[in-house]
Amino acid sequence: KMFDLIIINAVVVTASDISACCIGVKNGKIRALVDSFDDEELSGAEVIDAEGAYVMPGGIDAHVHLCQDLKTGPHGLGGECADNFETGSLSAIAGGTTTIITFATQTRAEEDRSLLKVVETYNSRAEETGSYADYGFHIIIVRNDQDILENELPVLVKDWGISSCKLFLTYETQRLTDSQLLDVMFEARKNAITTMIHAENGDMIEWLTGKLEEKGMVAPYYHALSRPPIVEGEATTRAIALAQLIQNPILFVHVGSVLGAANVRRAQTMGLPVYAETCPQYFHLTWNDLKRFHSPTCFENSKMICSPPPPPSTSDHEELFVGLSNGTFTIYSSDHCPFRYDHPHGKPSGVLEHPESMEGETISEGHDLKNLLERKQGAFRFIPNGIPGVETRLPLLYTGALATGRISPQRFVELSSTNPAKLYGLYPKKGALMPGSDADFVIWHPEKSFTPFHLHNSMLHHNVDYTPYEGMEFVNWPRYTILRGKVMWANGKVVGTVRDGQYLKRGPSQLSHKSPRTDKDPYRVANWLYE
Ligand code: URP
Ligand code: ZN
Ligand code: ZN
Ligand code: ZN
Repeated sequence: KMFDLIIINAVVVTASDISACCIGVKNGKIRALVDSFDDEELSGAEVIDAEGAYVMPGGIDAHVHLCQDLKTGPHGLGGECADNFETGSLSAIAGGTTTIITFATQTRAEEDRSLLKVVETYNSRAEETGSYADYGFHIIIVRNDQDILENELPVLVKDWGISSCKLFLTYETQRLTDSQLLDVMFEARKNAITTMIHAENGDMIEWLTGKLEEKGMVAPYYHALSRPPIVEGEATTRAIALAQLIQNPILFVHVGSVLGAANVRRAQTMGLPVYAETCPQYFHLTWNDLKRFHSPTCFENSKMICSPPPPPSTSDHEELFVGLSNGTFTIYSSDHCPFRYDHPHGKPSGVLEHPESMEGETISEGHDLKNLLERKQGAFRFIPNGIPGVETRLPLLYTGALATGRISPQRFVELSSTNPAKLYGLYPKKGALMPGSDADFVIWHPEKSFTPFHLHNSMLHHNVDYTPYEGMEFVNWPRYTILRGKVMWANGKVVGTVRDGQYLKRGPSQLSHKSPRTDKDPYRVANWLYE
């Protein structure tokens, strides 16, 4: 037979084009894009009729937290990921995503100093269960050990194909000082590693949190007040300056403020290789969602706590949508951070029994992680940051941005698949709909025959007991998810297996081309460093 799989009546969307055609797949790769197939070509092939619906490259979610435990929790404050590679990737494919990039994280503990060991640990967690989606790792670096950076970064790139690292400007257990950031960026640059920056000013957050606690303002809502937009505004400005000094490309993860987006835009206008990721929560939630249902003793809205927090109001959404359409935002990821509600290692539901106990207490040294978790007071300082969303990412972008005309179908593909592939060295194997590319597809329902529905968490496949988007109306959902020619998800049912996903060795970023430094560099940064 000529093809293993044929998709007919497709409206193929790429980052640049839309065209009605048919797709032929052989051995897991796209082989042909044509007007139609004849009987000989069709014979023996599995045929999927897209019925005129959009067919796009499979979603690439470049920001997913899986298997991070209490010690290595997504922000070092405790909290344990409820999803492993099995449940997390299942949720991904049920939402049209065929590739996930997850985090392997170094800690300050001596045994987690080695980045290579850390990656091996996370990789064995993935291999233990397998994965429904193809997957890779970013490495989180929380210290500036010169020997580790010099010896291990080249091995990470060469042996593991890990070409991106995440650095933090906040969280006591993860943040780096400016000079430590420079150390890591300098070594990253030598290895063509893209630095991802969590840009929040940790000192501002600490200071504001202390002030709020003095006033007894510790309910989940005050998490947002401890992180007003200037927190991201300052941190993005500073990180841009540091990256400008080192002259390496940076990607701001989870940009959630108009101020942060404006800073990114300005840097891009200067010609700096500055990229930004944004996430669904910054377009669908506001400060009010941390307040919803709030009573003095009810902490249900611990569910909505994430960092950066959602923006103050819906007018911010509109401004952020502009960044989504005009290119300020490079990629759209979920920041899937799966904590269960009402779970000792998740989001507390508990009432705050002794709000007054917070008063005058300085919470710093003295309280180790275990103590903090045992207190479980529901005060925002102790609530794990992060919300789930790997499955709802593409449907939210469809409903909120594509169906409303805020972005084009091509821009949808660029943000959710093609740009993540280019940024993280997966293109054109992933993120493209061209002969030779992996046959990864998301096929939507034809809009005319789809009845909008209200989402309930029971419909989702993650191991989290809530969704921030409970009750929201969705205007479409992936009908088929196809991974390297294999149908994984069809008409609301999982048909693939947990052994179908493969590890992805990535190359260097293909978005930023190293421009030659010349004496004409208008910014007069430290060129002598590289001579
Ligand atoms: O609140 C968030 N985003 N938690 C996840 C960890 C991170 O910083 O991405
Ligand atoms: Zn982060
Ligand atoms: Zn409440
Ligand atoms: Zn994250």
